Amino acid sequence: MAESKTADVMDKIVSLCKRRGFIFQSSEIYGGINGFWDYGPLGVELRKNIRDCWWNDMVRRRDDVVGLESSIIMHPKVWEASGHVGGFTDPMVDCKVSKQRFRADQIFFAAVVVDGKTAGYVTVLESERIAEELQEKAETFKRKKAIQGKLEPVRPLDFTEATPEEIPQIPSPATGEPGSLTPPRAFNMMFETYVGALRDESAIAYLRPETAQGMFVDFKAVLDTGRVKVPFGIAQIGKSFRNEITPRNFIFRSREFEQMEMEYFISDDDDWARWHRYWIDWCRDWLVSVGIPASALSEYNHPKEKLAFYSKGTTDLMFSYPFGVQELWGIAARGDYDLTQHGKASGQPMEYFDDVKKKRYVPHVIEPAVGVDRILLAILCSAYCEDQAPDEKGKMETRIVMKFHPRIAPVKVAVFPLLKNKPELVKKAQEVRDLLRPYMTVFYDEAGAIGRRYRRQDEAGTPFCLTIDFDTLGEKGPELADTVTLRERDTMKQERVKISELLPKLLEKVR
Ligand code: GAP
Repeated sequence: MAESKTADVMDKIVSLCKRRGFIFQSSEIYGGINGFWDYGPLGVELRKNIRDCWWNDMVRRRDDVVGLESSIIMHPKVWEASGHVGGFTDPMVDCKVSKQRFRADQIFFAAVVVDGKTAGYVTVLESERIAEELQEKAETFKRKKAIQGKLEPVRPLDFTEATPEEIPQIPSPATGEPGSLTPPRAFNMMFETYVGALRDESAIAYLRPETAQGMFVDFKAVLDTGRVKVPFGIAQIGKSFRNEITPRNFIFRSREFEQMEMEYFISDDDDWARWHRYWIDWCRDWLVSVGIPASALSEYNHPKEKLAFYSKGTTDLMFSYPFGVQELWGIAARGDYDLTQHGKASGQPMEYFDDVKKKRYVPHVIEPAVGVDRILLAILCSAYCEDQAPDEKGKMETRIVMKFHPRIAPVKVAVFPLLKNKPELVKKAQEVRDLLRPYMTVFYDEAGAIGRRYRRQDEAGTPFCLTIDFDTLGEKGPELADTVTLRERDTMKQERVKISELLPKLLEKVR
């Protein structure tokens, strides 16, 4: 873990991601497109490892969960039945002067109250320090306007709570002046497209905003073919799309992202709270198993009054990102709402016949839903570390190291010949590379001083480096022949290992 996880760490992580080829802004040569990201050579390996770990643990290693890959564009009626056409909205506010658009629940304002009288309003955007920032702004407001009297402590509210009388008096976060913010309007976040040659209402379809509906719509098909019995789950990994009003915090909130969702169907009279707890614990343990420290995780229970009417409970696993504690993984107990809705709308009852209890019912569901990109960001933040290490001349310098869990590291081992102009060293190093390559991601590098090559791999988060030197060739005696230097990333400790023992030794560490 990095010692300091303050906001400037975020800038360092973003810059490292670009420098080392983890993540790039999409379409950067054209100025970029907000809310879309490309994953470079290291990023794509990291993503794949996250997906593979989840799939192995969630599907392959369990008897009660099966997989699914449904299409991204589904029948538009799916999204009517699920409630997304009518209700998948965020409250949006426009600034008429700057033309900027905000989510109303991310604008915070407070009345500047002096001696019991409102003298004006101040605004800030959502941050870790909303109350402090509003208080500072209120003090500045009072000073600038030379208002005499006692300033009361601010009471922060979000813009959805502003009354029609207050709205014209609240300053825009873009201009700092009141009068330009519109009242909040519901903005549907689904991306629309057209299917077929016609471009009219009848051809409108949507890019899915979540993968979950695939599992509900295919529930019967899986039931009839999958030899599954309640309780069981259907899992899917795939892209989802949301036209977020304010994509932000790097890959945290994007417009195109990937979800890993699982719908776990339980009997209508089962103890849903027990299953809910079971899946919260499973998700937390899984995050720890891929290198996210338990100390950076917390739970947030959505208050009853804010839940959808059908929801029995939702708990979010929160991660302490450098920009604040934010939702990472939502675990929702959704009752029988989704299956019932699709049963009604399609005319095909989504029922299950329980041949032990001899009864037919619509199963209830527990849904752990997470974004690959949010896990990836949490992993990047957990792994980022700065320490001190000697440079080639023995002088201490700051070393940036990504301490990825070996299970998730994009490259498991780097292989270096000590010198690139010695064919015997190069040949031996390539033999070692080819020995390991069928079993793990190997990076072969012969360019530059050995210390520099180590530093590059530290930034890439490669847990092990192997150096092939003259000892390997037996030049310093037969006892060191066919041994290599194995260097461990976190401790920088080096040991001599026989080439014949490398594979089992490394496999044990990276699997
Ligand atoms: N089927 C339920 C569902 O989609 P959600 O809370 O809207 O619930 C689930 O999304 C998870 O998907 C979130 O916890 C988060 O990890 C991820 N997610 C949602 N919106 C995202 C976005 N705009 N960018 C990146 N990840 C997102």
